[in-house]
Amino acid sequence: MFAQRIANLPPYLFARIDEMKAKKRAEGVDVIDLGVGDPDLATPPHIVDALIDAAKNPDNHHYPSYLGMAAYRQAVAGWYNKRFGVDVDPDSQVISLIGSKDGVAHIPEALVGPGDYVLVPSPGYPVYSTGALFAEAKTYEMPLLKENGFLPDLDAIPNNIAKKSKLMWINYPNNPTSAIAPPSFYQEVVEFAREHGIVVVSDNAYSEISFDGYKAPSFLETDGAEEVGIEMHSLSKTYNMTGWRIGMAVGNKEVIRGLGIVKTNIDSGVFNPVQYAAIAALEGPQDCVAEACKIYQERRDVLVSGLKKLGFDVTTPKATFYVWMSVPDSISFAARMLDETGIVVTPGVGFGKSGEGYVRFAITRSVDRIKEAVERMGEVKW
Ligand SMILES: Cc1ncc(COP(=O)(O)O)c(C=O)c1O
Repeated sequence: MFAQRIANLPPYLFARIDEMKAKKRAEGVDVIDLGVGDPDLATPPHIVDALIDAAKNPDNHHYPSYLGMAAYRQAVAGWYNKRFGVDVDPDSQVISLIGSKDGVAHIPEALVGPGDYVLVPSPGYPVYSTGALFAEAKTYEMPLLKENGFLPDLDAIPNNIAKKSKLMWINYPNNPTSAIAPPSFYQEVVEFAREHGIVVVSDNAYSEISFDGYKAPSFLETDGAEEVGIEMHSLSKTYNMTGWRIGMAVGNKEVIRGLGIVKTNIDSGVFNPVQYAAIAALEGPQDCVAEACKIYQERRDVLVSGLKKLGFDVTTPKATFYVWMSVPDSISFAARMLDETGIVVTPGVGFGKSGEGYVRFAITRSVDRIKEAVERMGEVKW
């Protein structure tokens, strides 16, 4: 019944984990879910209020603009300037997204087709690959290895693949490894993209979730970045707005125009009140972001020190709300975690072949629950 492209897809990892989790809960297990990266914290009230006010105005009940309201695109440009010192033209270099997943899934439609390659990090956010497969392109997995700081080794990409590649994904701070990228890496990426005529998309969804004084850069701060690519960003993680579905793509005019053409033919934009709420988020007080980072940092410290005490091999992340831990076999470890402790973690191999040997914890639960998770793990002989 289904088209071949559906038959070719691997099962969506998180949907599968949801099924297993539901089964355990139905059996009466008190599941501690450290699986999906969905903040447990509430959207700050001034953002919710902006939505409510805008929703009361019937002018906002119509089809929104395909590309985002002018005021939203200006707010995004203003935020990029204030946060990263990057200047972009709101009319031609910014587009709204229905969450960054929308942009990730759809941009391959604008840039690649049969015979083309998309360079995807492995492990990586699964939609980089599925978006490419929907566009009937091939993917080449760039391994992110611990010995390289979980950065792809661009010199290791075979020349014949680089020649056929039209799109490359980079994602720092990284999901799932929580690695960060030094500015020198972004410079290398620009040079590589120029040499091979590849469009770079930097997925910067986690730039605002960082610890110990670290501030993540934007790829667009790099000399030449706007010439070769764009950045996707989202309000989901920064302002605890995963359910609201709003994000942005920013950067190279032609690439933004191509994405706009695809989206104009697929969706009808973001509900205006959600865009007004996003403006309130981007232009309003930012102490809510600092507060969230403080909460995640405390959780990180509790989890990492607990895991180390139990003898696990884990590094302390500088950013993201993920902890990436080395294990002998990711699927069997995650299965044992659920069966023997009632804790959900994500097996690394679900993010690509090179994710094998790791599991990912999402620190999107309270300190008390994380402490309890560590206690439960301490009762098992690993
Ligand atoms: C690396 C990465 N990119 C993009 C997304 C999509 O987020 P959203 O569509 O909510 O902006 C996620 C969500 O988990 C992610 O981890």
